[in-house]
Amino acid sequence: MKDFIITIDGASSSGKSTLAKGLAKHFGFKHIDSGAMYRALTQYAMELQLLGEDCYKIKELISLLPTIKIDFNSDDFVMLNGKVIEGKIRSLEVAKYVSIIAKESIFRKFMVDRQRELGERGNVVMDGRDIGSVVFPKAEIKFFLEASIDVRTARRFTELKEKGDVVSYKEVYDNLAKRDEIDSTRLDSPLVKPTNAIVLSSQESTSENLLAKAIDEIEKKRS
Ligand code: C5P
Repeated sequence: MKDFIITIDGASSSGKSTLAKGLAKHFGFKHIDSGAMYRALTQYAMELQLLGEDCYKIKELISLLPTIKIDFNSDDFVMLNGKVIEGKIRSLEVAKYVSIIAKESIFRKFMVDRQRELGERGNVVMDGRDIGSVVFPKAEIKFFLEASIDVRTARRFTELKEKGDVVSYKEVYDNLAKRDEIDSTRLDSPLVKPTNAIVLSSQESTSENLLAKAIDEIEKKRS
């Protein structure tokens, strides 16, 4: 098969990463989780105490951008300045602040430039909010994943509990609702269904069924 890019967009916990991982494995592609890139920057800012409760030192964070390099290792884990930081970035603490960082154009431009570099050679599945609309609008295969906020909350809540995080269902629900709102109403690259995207619902589908459906769609499109 010729090199190509698969984009997957959708709201938080709509099943993007699971589908992306499955497709990456099936096609032997690299998986780039663009949300992990925003989460890594957020975690870094929090560690430096530039971001947190009543603290938003955006100018300082902007001045650090030229010193920050985001990458993915061979297992597709995000790295910031050469260090894997996968575990911490999935916490509810980071989730509370990530959309505040992600709505700023200066950080978006930084991420989009890097995402384009990482994906330019093709053979990549990239998931996020603006991948099919802004980062790779000409991608050959675009998916848009949908699921209700209740199903997404239940999924995220179970994931966090399994990791041992102490969180309530309500906290997770409120965080998703807040991020949905910020991500879909921001001025720069809001979450939208990209033109020509294939809409898949992960509402009731098992991840295996969803993957099979997506592979089927890709094979139809490329035959
Ligand atoms: O996908 P995930 O939930 O890990 O993304 C975390 C946050 O990163 C989102 O809520 C959103 O604010 C931001 N994001 C974004 N654009 C992307 C990917 C993620 O704005 N392409």
